[in-house]
Amino acid sequence: MAKSVSMLVVALVVLFVLKLTCSSRDDIHIPTTLDGPFKPFTKPLDKSFRGNAIDLPPTDPRVQRTVQGFEPEQISVSLSSTYDSVWISWITGYSQVYSQLYPFEGLKNYTSGIIHHVRLRGLKPNTLYYYQCGDPSIPAMSDIYYFRTMPDSNHRSYPSRIAIVGDLGLTYNTTSTVSHMISNHPDLILLVGDVSYANLYLTNGTGADCYSCSFSQTPIHETYQPRWDYWGRFMQPLLSKVPIMVVEGNHEYEEQAENKTFVAYSSRFAFPYKESGSPSTFYYSFNAGGIHFIMLGAYISYDKSGEQYKWLKRDLAKVDREVTPWLVATWHPPWYSTYTAHYREAECMRVAMEELLYQY
Ligand SMILES: *[C@@H]1O[C@H](CO)[C@@H](O)[C@H](O)[C@H]1NC(C)=O
Ligand SMILES: *[C@@H]1O[C@H](CO)[C@@H](O)[C@H](O)[C@H]1NC(C)=O
Ligand SMILES: *[C@@H]1O[C@H](CO)[C@@H](O)[C@H](O)[C@H]1NC(C)=O
Ligand SMILES: *[C@@H]1O[C@H](CO)[C@@H](O)[C@H](O)[C@H]1NC(C)=O
Repeated sequence: MAKSVSMLVVALVVLFVLKLTCSSRDDIHIPTTLDGPFKPFTKPLDKSFRGNAIDLPPTDPRVQRTVQGFEPEQISVSLSSTYDSVWISWITGYSQVYSQLYPFEGLKNYTSGIIHHVRLRGLKPNTLYYYQCGDPSIPAMSDIYYFRTMPDSNHRSYPSRIAIVGDLGLTYNTTSTVSHMISNHPDLILLVGDVSYANLYLTNGTGADCYSCSFSQTPIHETYQPRWDYWGRFMQPLLSKVPIMVVEGNHEYEEQAENKTFVAYSSRFAFPYKESGSPSTFYYSFNAGGIHFIMLGAYISYDKSGEQYKWLKRDLAKVDREVTPWLVATWHPPWYSTYTAHYREAECMRVAMEELLYQY
């Protein structure tokens, strides 16, 4: 599976801001779909964009633990499948929700904090909600944060701006991407795989731009799980206010003892997989106003006889284009790309699923 996948050498940062309706904000003008259609445009790759990414070190104040005792940290908001429900996630203390274990001499194991996912229901569309999370009996409550629910689903109501980002990582370049997102006030963020790049590190915290080049002798592909906590802390100022929807990339593979994989990914984020009838955190769907989003898993079976394909068929059959005129499907490795990274890696997935998607 993804173990053989070529790991991206640096955190390549991609960011689009999709603006679907007019907004009154007077930021720098970003062309919208309403300004189109545009002529196809090819821009040669700026080679300086690769190879220069430097990770934020553990000493950076933005990644350090600042809360006391059982106070919540790494707070984030995710959507459920419809506007009336939202997930709030946070982490407390040091007890365990998941482990990353390496049964090899010299390798360090990791135990996560308690990861909380709470689903709020009965919410109104397009409404600002203030919230606090934590345990009032200790007391150990967070500050007050707020989020806005998605608009109701119909052909006239859309989130104003959606930021789509992949291969985010936690480098100094990530900080400029995230600042750019914050200053453009997105209503929703899609992170289409490759999140913390904790798998570019050994369990002792030594990192490299390219794991296999630098650590060719390791008995298993190690990770340094504290990088996930750094990522959660760094992202909190944005994600405590703006919902994020994540789907897995190859960097989330993170093999460990008993052949377990994708454990940090599946444990740390809330996904509306049950709400959208999916059996797995690897693929799910949700509505954001008049858009139905389908997040597909490229690192789990996508064969026509498999669970994901059957779920996709059911999910597509339920889509009502009167209610959600936009249908957007997304996944991590590109199906159509001439670039070297991931080149034709997802060809089998394309062959299996493309026709079904075109039917809709
Ligand atoms: C880490 O966990 C594995 C699996 O439980 C165990 O075999 C190993 O001895 C542990 N390593 C350390 C350093 O405790
Ligand atoms: C990424 O950050 C480095 C500094 O760490 C900087 O030199 C480089 O120009 C940045 N790249 C881009 C594309 O902004
Ligand atoms: C981590 O392990 C690697 C490989 O054994 C070693 O080269 C490096 O010095 C270690 N780093 C620390 C901080 O212990
Ligand atoms: C892990 O995978 C290896 C190789 O496929 C297999 O031999 C082994 O039995 C598996 N272990 C567990 C605990 O599933």
